[in-house]
Formats: sequence, structure tokens, C-alpha cells
Amino acid sequence: MRVLSGIQPTGRPHWGNYFGAIRQYIDLQHGNEAYYFVADLHALTTVRDAARLRQNTFDAALDLLALGLDPEKAVLFRQSDVPEVSELCWLLMTGTPMGLLERCHAYKDKKEKGLTADAGLFTYPVLMSADILAYDADIVPVGADQVQHIEVCRDLAGSFNHQFGETFVLPKAKTLDASAKVPGTDGEKMSKSYDNTIELFEDPKAARKKIMRITTDARPMEEPKEPDGDHLYQLYSLFVGDAEREAMAALYRRGGFGYGEIKKALADAAESFFADARTRRAALVADPARVEQILADGAVRARKKAAATLARAQKNCGLR
Ligand code: ADP
Ligand code: TRP
Repeated sequence: MRVLSGIQPTGRPHWGNYFGAIRQYIDLQHGNEAYYFVADLHALTTVRDAARLRQNTFDAALDLLALGLDPEKAVLFRQSDVPEVSELCWLLMTGTPMGLLERCHAYKDKKEKGLTADAGLFTYPVLMSADILAYDADIVPVGADQVQHIEVCRDLAGSFNHQFGETFVLPKAKTLDASAKVPGTDGEKMSKSYDNTIELFEDPKAARKKIMRITTDARPMEEPKEPDGDHLYQLYSLFVGDAEREAMAALYRRGGFGYGEIKKALADAAESFFADARTRRAALVADPARVEQILADGAVRARKKAAATLARAQKNCGLR
């Protein structure tokens, strides 16, 4: 199977991004032909600061490598390093009904709030379709919020094939495990929009402070508690094996502990969970030329594939 996904470089990754998305992308590099890119062209619809976009894009690639993306196994590249995709986007755009894009939630939500949208946001799903079709992807792992865009992609590819003959592979969305909804420091869904995140690579001391401030209920020390549904327990479970998780569940049910102890255990578990990634990240930060080389190699491989698809599409629709 050919797997592909794009990651928007819009901020520092947090625990929710890792357990909800990044980890699952990286797992799919095993046993598949995998393409992952940093979606800098999409980020341009929100990040309007050149230095910040450049840095975020580089950092996103660095994070993926630190977290285990293996450039020998998967092709890692910057979206904008493959100009063929933007050209393919135009070919698709000429056959995209306005109504299809008007129904897409990113644009619709913005419009309903009375905000003005630009053409970039409006046509965002078409660029995303070009991203997917350029590489003949079979499987696209995405969060639930992106499934609508894969449907758009299938529609556009299907109607192009219908008009011009077999050109594109119709992809399938692989929705990420919805049960992996990671709670934030306030117990609500962790999200950078709620200011309740703990980042993967923040300073361990700062992370520890945030962990110690995670909200808890006012349960008396001696009272036993059901662990399921408790967000502190949920967070702890992400970082430990079965034996430690069960021991923690037993402690909850027995009672007689302070939340401070659990928070400390959580901070220790999280720190050791990301220790290797942190070490790998530090090595990459010290060697930016290596990261650039990986991205450059990735771009060569990605362009080769995208150029072949673009040529096929151009020929079929009468441009060559
Ligand atoms: P944020 O909500 O912080 O803006 P994004 O919308 O950029 O995060 O999310 C990027 C990816 O990470 C998406 O695929 C999303 O499903 C996943 N994700 C984000 N927050 C969580 C969370 N709290 N639990 C599980 N997955 C999450
Ligand atoms: N729009 C996606 C997101 O915000 C990122 C993305 C861009 C993408 N192009 C893609 C994801 C192609 C999958 C396939 O998460």
C-alpha cells in the first residue's frame, strides 16, 4: 500500500498531536511505501510571517525525525519543494464545482462567523487533493476533521477519470483512533486553541510545572476512586506499560494517596517516554545540514513520482 499524509507546521507539537496523530503516521512507515510532507503551502493560509513559516516548517521535519520517522523507510519532504503539485492543483480546479467547496467546513465555518475568507482557504481542499493524487496514494491517515477533504479528493479524481480516462488512484481515508482523545491540563481535549497543552519537547522543568498544575477534583486523600474517566489516569496510561497502568488503577481503587504523587509519576513517565526522541532531536538541531539533506533527498524522490502523475494528467486532458 502507498500511504501519504501531510502535517501542517502551525505550532509546537503537543501530547495530543503525538498520541492522536504523529505516532500513528510513523507506525505506518513499516510495511508500506510511505510519503510524509510538511504542508507549508497550506500553512501559508494562516502563517503570514516568512521567518516563522520557514522555522516552523524546518522544526516540524525535525520533530518527525526525532520521533522516529526513518528517512530510509519513508519519503519526507516539504510540500512546496514539489511544484508539480501546484500545477496539478490547477488541472483539478478547472473541474471543481463551487458548491463542493462551499460545503467544506473550514471555509463554511469562517463564513458563518462573518469573517472574510480568501481564495486560498476556499480552494484548500483542491490543493490537498493534488497532494494526495500526485503520489497515487492508496491510504491517507488523517484526523476526523480532514475526512471531508478526502471525500472531495475522491470526487475530483473520480470525475477527472470519468471525463479524461483512468488517470488517478482513488484514495481511502484512514481515520486515526478516535478513542485516543488526549485530555489537556484542564481535563478538556488538549488543543493549542484552549491553552491547555503540554508540548513534547518543551523544557522538562516547564513541562513538570504544567503537570503539577493539572486540574483535579477536591477528593479527600483517603477516598478510593474509579480510575476510568479520570484525566490524570488517562494521561499516565499513555506513557506506561500494562503492569504500571494496572498498579496505578489499583492505587486509585485503594485510595489514600495525594494527587501530587500521581502527577510526579506522570511527569517521570512522560520524561522517560520522550527521552530518546529528545536526544535524537538535540543531535539534529546541532546538525541542520543533515535535516536539509534529508528534505532535499525526499524532494527528489517525491518530485519524480509527482512529475509522472502530472505528465499523465496533462496528456489525458489535452495539454500535451
Ligand atoms: P490543535 O487542536 O492543538 O490545534 P491540530 O488541530 O493541529 O491540533 O491537530 C493536528 C492533529 O493532531 C489532528 O490529526 C488531530 O486529530 C490530532 N490531535 C490534536 N489534539 C488532539 C487530542 N487532544 N487528542 C487526540 N488527537 C489530537
Ligand atoms: N490539511 C491537513 C491538516 O490540516 C494537512 C494536509 C495537507 C494533508 N495536505 C494533505 C493531510 C494531504 C493529508 C493529505 O491536517
